[in-house]
Amino acid sequence: MGVARVRDMKPEDLPAVVAIEAASFRSPWTYGMLREELDQESGWRSVAEDATGRVVGFLLGRCYPDAWHVVDLAVAPDRRRRGVGGALLDDFLRAADECGVEVVLEVRPGNAEAVSLYGPRGFAVVGIRPKYYPDTDEDAFVMVRPLRTAGEREDGAGGLTGPLLAIESSCDDSAAAVLSPEGRVLSAVTHSQDAIHERYGGVVPEVASRAHVERMTAVVAETLREGGCPLDDLGGVAVTVGPGLIGALLIGVQTAKAIAWSRRLPFFPVNHIHGHLAAAWLADPGAEFPMVTLVASGGHTVLIRVDGRTTFRLLGQTLDDAAGEAFDKGARLLGLGYPGGRELDELAEKGDPESFSFPIGLRRSSRPDFSFSGVKTALYYLLRRMTPDERAARAADLAASYRKAIVEALVGKAVRTAQCEKVRTLAAAGGVAANSLLRRRLTEAGSLAGLHVVIPPPALCTDNAAMIGAAALAGPRLDYPHYLAVDASASLALGRWMSTGPDEMPPPVDERRFSR
Ligand code: KG4
Ligand code: ZN
Repeated sequence: MGVARVRDMKPEDLPAVVAIEAASFRSPWTYGMLREELDQESGWRSVAEDATGRVVGFLLGRCYPDAWHVVDLAVAPDRRRRGVGGALLDDFLRAADECGVEVVLEVRPGNAEAVSLYGPRGFAVVGIRPKYYPDTDEDAFVMVRPLRTAGEREDGAGGLTGPLLAIESSCDDSAAAVLSPEGRVLSAVTHSQDAIHERYGGVVPEVASRAHVERMTAVVAETLREGGCPLDDLGGVAVTVGPGLIGALLIGVQTAKAIAWSRRLPFFPVNHIHGHLAAAWLADPGAEFPMVTLVASGGHTVLIRVDGRTTFRLLGQTLDDAAGEAFDKGARLLGLGYPGGRELDELAEKGDPESFSFPIGLRRSSRPDFSFSGVKTALYYLLRRMTPDERAARAADLAASYRKAIVEALVGKAVRTAQCEKVRTLAAAGGVAANSLLRRRLTEAGSLAGLHVVIPPPALCTDNAAMIGAAALAGPRLDYPHYLAVDASASLALGRWMSTGPDEMPPPVDERRFSR
């Protein structure tokens, strides 16, 4: 049941309003504070009613002569995601438009639901208020919805007026892509550092950073050339700000900030995991939300419920190694190259998956979590008992059986979680989603369970910048100069878009000194 009508708040509504407030925020306003709002001279207070007359949400605002402020917006927990917040907000925005004022609000950067409510309604992040929320010391995004003037040009997503350049450097791939404002990929270039790290048998962070420095400019230049988009035609710049290797991230972030700064372009900070999730709707724009997405790569193995392009919740994850790590370590034990996942996959195609039995991690647990340390240890002890000749003769069978154990764990948990969450779409992303058995088995088992299965092409599964651009077009936008303090963050949590540096807001900039 949605909203039947939006009307002015009456004193009789206060008990319902207090209950919704208490159920919505960690530091809720008290009865007394809400009561005072009813008498505020410049105050706006509205409630949303359902068809039975029950109050299911409310909005408090302040109407100043030059700008209106959204002070508090909350929806009853059992009525969320049904357009209640949107109805309250649209009513407020309509009135603001009629009075010819812009609308301002603060939001927690981690509040993905709020960002997705305001973004499509023309709000853009214009700044950060450091440590705005006393309960968590969190920063606030300041979002503004500028006045719409008659005859204004219709822009693409994120208000872009030209193509978006996206940059990714969180691990060992230097990547860039150009997307149209509508999200079509015009060009994408990925420079893999596999050959550099092979001799160390793993990614060496310092070596990765240096390789990014050496290549990033050329990768960006090549991407712009292939996309037919000179620097001066760009409409915005997006970049992965975390999580990842801090030194590697920094190269992408500084490159993106420098390009955005030099042209005063808007800047789009992207969470790497949000990027992997976006690969699903980039590959299949018609795929329906909500979906459950498996992100399996060298660094992550997680199951995420995705309710919309910026609304998601972590459901489960690996308790030890990531799936890609398990593939890479297995490949190493089998004497294959680095990173090894793909080589092991190719070798496994020639072997018999039934010839050896490997443990399938947490198979009997109903939790949506994974464990891959057992399968790796089992391979280690099995190989120790074999002679070098046996190992060579049975390499393909070993690879096939090992691959099967990892894939069955991923497929079993992914399908079961999608069923438990009652979604109709199951997606997979991350480097391990390039695995040929995983692609076959997930499609098979998912379809059998009545799910629509989305597995992007391998180039969109492994780290790439096209997915970063797709995530950016759904996420927050920062206009110049508000992004100058945005920093790389090695451990950015899911649902966080960015962190700011020690100086928080940049010092005032004298525009004349920098004019081109
Ligand atoms: O997403 P990604 O490119 O980078 C990270 O964020 O980690 O994933 C890389 C991982 C590596 O562990 C690699 O071995 C694995 O994905 N991988 C594969 C395959 N292709 C890449 N694993 C299994 N089968 C494959 N075909
Ligand atoms: Zn990745």
